Amino acid sequence: GTTLGGAAAETGRYYGAAIAAYKLSDSQYVGILDREFNAVTPENEMKWDATEPTQGQFRYTGADQIVSHAQAHGMRVRGHTLLWHAQQPGWAQNLSGTALRSAAINHVTQVATHFKGKIYAWDVVNEAFADGSSGARRDSNLQRTGNDWIEAAFRAARAADPGAKLCYNDYNTDGVNAKSTGVYNMVRDFKARGVPIDCVGFQSHLGTGMPGDYQANLQRFADLGVDVQITELDIEQGSNQATLYGNVTRACLAVSRCTGITVWGIRDSDSWRTGQNPLLFDGGGNRKPAYTAVLNALNAG
Ligand code: G3I
Repeated sequence: GTTLGGAAAETGRYYGAAIAAYKLSDSQYVGILDREFNAVTPENEMKWDATEPTQGQFRYTGADQIVSHAQAHGMRVRGHTLLWHAQQPGWAQNLSGTALRSAAINHVTQVATHFKGKIYAWDVVNEAFADGSSGARRDSNLQRTGNDWIEAAFRAARAADPGAKLCYNDYNTDGVNAKSTGVYNMVRDFKARGVPIDCVGFQSHLGTGMPGDYQANLQRFADLGVDVQITELDIEQGSNQATLYGNVTRACLAVSRCTGITVWGIRDSDSWRTGQNPLLFDGGGNRKPAYTAVLNALNAG
């Protein structure tokens, strides 16, 4: 393959990018997107604050633009994200207890229903585990509605869109550690009890190194009977950026249930990590050495 998406497709996988609706009028940006990628994730447009700014009033303008663009170009869409402790609208931040629980589940149902049939995989719940050594859930307003809020969200998403793969997504879970083991135990429990879960997303916001057990961690989740995906990849620019991008690509290719990779932006200038130049294209839209490392790894797989 001569493009990321084309080369990934030859291995049965996708190669995606997080995109912003307001950049779809930037011809350089869209040119790279349409040439290189066969999947997209809305960077912000499907989050709770964007889609339900007022309780019960849903707004899908930016998200619909992205989904339309994806459909017109044969790209898969990863939905991101139905429930998260961050980027909640103010009204939700001010709720608690049963009022928050029912608002959250209604949000899942409404948004998943709006996009029914158009989403390859939903990040149903994002970042619900605590950092550090506890392996426990993160404290949040959603967690305080009861420990079963995550399974309630997955059941509501399945009922609304039975065709979408349902993922749990988190960061600092890219190697075997207390946090990823907390997620692992939840997924194992969900599979044992029949709670609908199909995939786990590993964000992979990496610095100048990566866990030595990165592939082994993907594999242990795959062995639970879920797909795994690399969902928000970006790697701080340093002397080894291209090498690390190649290593991450090879790790996914070595795990048969690793179904695809998404980078968290297109050009360095599009990244949330200002000044770190963590992506595959420079601010002028030129392919970086990291791009070549990914393409070569995909073509070798
Ligand atoms: O939309 C408003 C705009 O109206 C306002 O004028 C402007 C002023 O600051 O802010 C705009 O909102 C910003 C939004 O991005 C859209 O551009 C927010 O301030 C800004 O905080 C928000 O940042 C996003 C961040 O999530 C929020 O937590 C980043 O773009 C996005 O890349 C980042 O993505 C997250 C994933 O969803 C989850 N995993 C981590 C990842 C990186 O933080």
